[in-house]
Amino acid sequence: MVKKVLVTGGAGYIGSHTVVELFRSGYEPLILDDYRNSEVSVIGRIKQITGKAPEVILGDVCDEDLVNEIFQNHKLSGVIHFAAYKAVGESVEKPLKYYSNNISGLLSILKPICEMGNIPFVFSSSCTVYGEPQGLKEVNEQTPRSIPTSPYGYTKWLGEQIIRDAFLAQKELRLMNLRYFNPIGAHPSGLIGELPIGKPNNLVPFITQTAAGIHKELVIFGNNYPTIDGTCVRDYIHVVDLAEAHVKAIDYLLLQQKGCRETVNIGTGTGTSVLELVNTFKDENKIDLKFSFGPERPGDVIEIFANVNYAKSLLGWTSKNDTRDAVRDAWNWEKSIRNIK
Ligand code: UD1
Repeated sequence: MVKKVLVTGGAGYIGSHTVVELFRSGYEPLILDDYRNSEVSVIGRIKQITGKAPEVILGDVCDEDLVNEIFQNHKLSGVIHFAAYKAVGESVEKPLKYYSNNISGLLSILKPICEMGNIPFVFSSSCTVYGEPQGLKEVNEQTPRSIPTSPYGYTKWLGEQIIRDAFLAQKELRLMNLRYFNPIGAHPSGLIGELPIGKPNNLVPFITQTAAGIHKELVIFGNNYPTIDGTCVRDYIHVVDLAEAHVKAIDYLLLQQKGCRETVNIGTGTGTSVLELVNTFKDENKIDLKFSFGPERPGDVIEIFANVNYAKSLLGWTSKNDTRDAVRDAWNWEKSIRNIK
């Protein structure tokens, strides 16, 4: 029997790529999304890629009645919870919006999971829970979490805490936190990718929009950090690899006979500086990119990248794409939405 997986936020950036990978692995994704940060056209594009149109329930994950109805009307084999706000800067300006949506959404979906007790659940967490790593820049899952630098970060931190406490009270639950590092890139088909609303805050959408002529130049935030070239270092993970990690997470949880709670880093294991990424973008796409150095961005972590041993040993997952693949696919996607040849 085909296994149905509920994907909240399934029309969004990471969600849509995960829906594609679920189809490819024989699952039947069921999307819950209200398109507040995505577009309905994504569904047709998923069909173009996979030959299958996912079923979509239009609605808000915070709507507990709707969520309960979904659990009653569908036999779910798993739940992946993406639907949440994710702009760090906005979360500082509108903290209650972030706490209210991200925490209510998680509680709304976790309640029926706890009531039913046996449905695997995967939570979108973030490397933001590590804060600025002390000493070693390569962090593993045992690296202590630190105080988040933004309300957004706190919602992920608190999300993991809620999941931990739910598990301590109910040991039969099967739960997994995936701590994403920096997801970038797009589907190699050029049919789905990130659709930032307004001026992007994240690096790669800003790079591709600058290359497309929408912004005059990229401003690199800080070039005097104690890193390889003075710019910040991150672990950039291709979104298709990240999507595959979610399928592996569901595969793993479905195989468990007993309850479990796991936390897994999802990155490449390699640190890349902002300047290195910019140069890779220029080199791979044979395109110039104007940039200048500006002041440091408040709250930025200097350097962090993932230790990915646990992802490999627990899930049998490693990333397949590198930053070259990711910047090529990101540019391909930007060109396709702007009709650039
Ligand atoms: C942060 C969080 C990540 C979260 C993401 C959501 C950390 C370590 N990471 O990513 O968990 O999912 O926000 O938005 O907390 N940059 C520029 N110029 C720009 C834009 C960015 O130089 O115009 C630089 C930043 O200073 C940073 C790097 O590019 O060094 C990556 O920035 P960004 O893409 O915003 O991601 P993070 O802040 O690392």
